[in-house]
This record gives sequence, C-alpha cells and structure tokens, in this order.
Amino acid sequence: MIKVITYGTYDLLHYGHIRLLERARALGDYLIVGVTADDFDIARGKINVQQSLMERIEAVRQTGLADEIIIEEYEGQKIDDIKKYHIDIFTVGSDWEGKFDYLKEYCKVVYLDRTKGVSSTQIRDSRRSIQMGFVGENHIVQKHMAECRFVNGIKPVCACTQNPKLQQYCRQQGVATTDFDSLLSQCDAVYLASHPTLHRDQIRAALIAGKHVLCESPIAMTKEECSELFKMANDRGLVLMDAIKTAYSTAYNRLLLLIKSGKIGRVVSVDATCTSLQDLKDTQNIDYASTWNSICGWGPVALLPVFQLLGCQYANKHIFTYLLDQKTKFDGFTKIDFAYPGAVAGIKVGKAAKSEGELIVSGTKGYAYVPAPWWKTDYFEIRYENPADNRRYFYQLDGEGIRNEIAAFVKAIEKEDFATYLDQAVSCAIAGAIGDFTSGKNTTLLNVQPD
Ligand code: CTP
Repeated sequence: MIKVITYGTYDLLHYGHIRLLERARALGDYLIVGVTADDFDIARGKINVQQSLMERIEAVRQTGLADEIIIEEYEGQKIDDIKKYHIDIFTVGSDWEGKFDYLKEYCKVVYLDRTKGVSSTQIRDSRRSIQMGFVGENHIVQKHMAECRFVNGIKPVCACTQNPKLQQYCRQQGVATTDFDSLLSQCDAVYLASHPTLHRDQIRAALIAGKHVLCESPIAMTKEECSELFKMANDRGLVLMDAIKTAYSTAYNRLLLLIKSGKIGRVVSVDATCTSLQDLKDTQNIDYASTWNSICGWGPVALLPVFQLLGCQYANKHIFTYLLDQKTKFDGFTKIDFAYPGAVAGIKVGKAAKSEGELIVSGTKGYAYVPAPWWKTDYFEIRYENPADNRRYFYQLDGEGIRNEIAAFVKAIEKEDFATYLDQAVSCAIAGAIGDFTSGKNTTLLNVQPD
C-alpha cells in the first residue's frame, strides 16, 4: 500500500484545496492530511486564519478525500510523521517548490501544480475591509497603522491627530487627516490613543455614530464611566475593546492558563512592575495636561495580571504615589498594594523612577517568572524548589502583540463575538483603580526630593 501525506491550513476550503487533495490521493492508496494547529499558524506568521482548527478539520473531512486527518503542531513534525506513519510520498502545492527537498531523505517528495487564481488569502481579502480611523497624538498610533497591513480585513482610511510627524506619515500612506467628526463619518471603527481624559466623550460619540472602538487603556477615568460605555456598546451590538497589547500575546495567555490550571499551586501574590524614563527626559518642558502620567501609561498593563489572576473583587488597596504635578495629578511613580481574602498583589509603575520590569506570580507549589520587559513577553519560566523541575516556555511574538490585538478586534467585529481575550469586568476594574488614584482614595503621597 502506498501511503501519501500532505499538509495545509485549509482555511475557508476552496476549489484549489480540493484539486490538491484529489491529486494527492491519486498518488497512492492511503492519504493522510495534516491540518495546521492555530498556534502553529500564528508562530509561522499566519494570524488571519478565519476558521478554528475544528472547523478546518471538519471541512477537510467532508471532502471525503482524506483517509486520516492529523494535526500539525510543531516545526519539524513532518519528519516525525513520515517515520511514524511509514509514508512513501510527501506532497504539497508548487508554491512550496524546493522548500521540502530536505524530506527526500525520508520519502519521495512531489510538488503538484498549484491551481491558479484562488487562495484563502484572496477569499479573506475579497470581503469588504473594516475602514479604520485613528485618533491621537501618541506614537503608538503609527505602530497600529503599520501593523494593520499584517491583518486581513482592516484598512486605515483616516486619522485625527495634531502630531506633525504622524500627519506626515499619514500623507505618505495616503491616509486622510481630518477632524474627529468627519473621521467618524468616514470609518466603520476607530482606534483611540488620545489622552485618557478625552476617551469617555470620544467613545460616546463614536458609539452613538455606530462605530466599533478599540481604545488604549484606560477606557475611562472611573469604573462607573467605563461600565456605562460598555453598556452603550453592548446595547448597540458594537465592539468596545481595551487595547492592551500584552493581553493578546500568546505567551501571556499561555502563562495565565498554566497558572489557572494549578501549575504553581494556589496563587498567593502577583507582583508586576513597569517603568520607562524616556517620556520625561525633558522635565522642564513637559505639558503635564496632555502627557500620559505613569498610572495611565503603565497602570493598565501592570494591573492586568492582578485582575486576571486574582479577580476584580479585592478586599482593599492602598496607593503610594509621588506626584510631579499636583494640579494634573501627574505621577512620576506609583505603587498600589492590593489585599484579597487569600492573596496579595502589588504593582509599581513609573516614568520618573526606574526598576526591573518583571512579573512574578508566587504560588503554594512554585512561581512564575517573566523577565523584563514582561509586557512584551515571548518567554517565561515556571520555577520550583527543585531547579530540575523548572520549565521554560517560548512563544513567538510578532509586532509586540499589536498585530494579534488588531486581529482579535477584527474577529470580534466580523464574528459578532464580544468574548475577546479581555473581560469587560477587568477593563472596568482598571478604570476603577485609576479613578481611585485620581480622587486620592486610600492614597499616601510620597515626598520625593527632586534630583
Ligand atoms: N493549494 C493549491 N492551489 C491553490 C491553493 C492552495 O494547490 N490555489 C495547495 C497548497 O499548495 C497546499 C494546500 O493547497 O499544498 C493547502 O494550502 P493552504 O496554505 O492551506 O491554502 P492557501 O489558499 O494557499 O492559503 P493562504 O492564502 O492562507 O496561504
């Protein structure tokens, strides 16, 4: 019996796939089809796949052409499979010509002519793209616009910004710069990176105009305002999503799952630190009213693992802060301690103080360690008393996670699936902590002497 194997993503199964499978089957007596796992696709840069692994497997199964379907999960698996299943022929489309010649050591390799004029990418692109408007002065706007080109189904069309560099970038990209109201009339969805004090009014206006919103966290300056905005979005069937890129990275999500499945026992402490000095280099000329303070700039990401691991219902918290400007509540450094019934947590954030930007989650059996800068993590360790039990985990992170964040936003809109990675309760708890900071609740002012 001649055994044949072939691999692919088989997203939105099309005529080209079916022709390939028919010819692959005709090469032998038994056909095994390897369908790529979601993680494997993400790791090799395919982040736009529309269908889940199970949907793609089901589509291949329904062709009736595969005798057996397996899942391709890791680099190098093809060699393992060829040996394990005693494969005689490996085959793929001619778009891979030469790429799998290294398998000739193990079996015959056949490249079949690729069917012209059809591909999953083309089908994904043929749907109308979400027309995206960008708002804000922050340099992160440019990164988001640039990352859109890696995501199918979204297109930057306009921007509202006072930042001259950004305006120039928009002109180069052929993206119109305009005022906020006309921006709303030109797009289906907006990305907001404006100053946090403007978010509430801008989000309200966008939702009233029927636009989906992706907003740099915090969504609002108080918990009440944040839940009011979510209610507005939910009532209108619109997506309102916190843009915290860490929340959408594979490594961070795997870390949460491992901890929640008990790998380090019960969590007793979460400690997250995020600092950067570069924003406040020129302290003489800072416009405190329009610059993101430390708690808004870093607070959301530092608070993320606290609320996602320990929940949003803490017993109490205390805030220690060093204010650079009293009027605008611009903090150079802030520490928040949380007490939960069975655990504690602490965050440290600063733009005028420096520390090690690590995340440590302590448990009753071991601890998770994410090295600096943990918010851009592709790597973490689970550590135990006996170092021989330690485990290291690595997951590829492209585009700092912004790409995944945009892909999650597009998916939420297209599939009308609001259960994104980030729970609305977590976004509200983040806004709540920032609200308490601003109102001075349970706060001790640190009297730091100037350098
Ligand atoms: N294939 C083909 N003819 C096409 C499209 C795909 O013969 N028009 C073959 C590929 O060469 C591969 C298999 O079908 O052997 C699975 O391809 P896959 O990458 O899943 O499909 P694409 O349409 O190429 O997907 P994408 O656009 O996401 O790259």
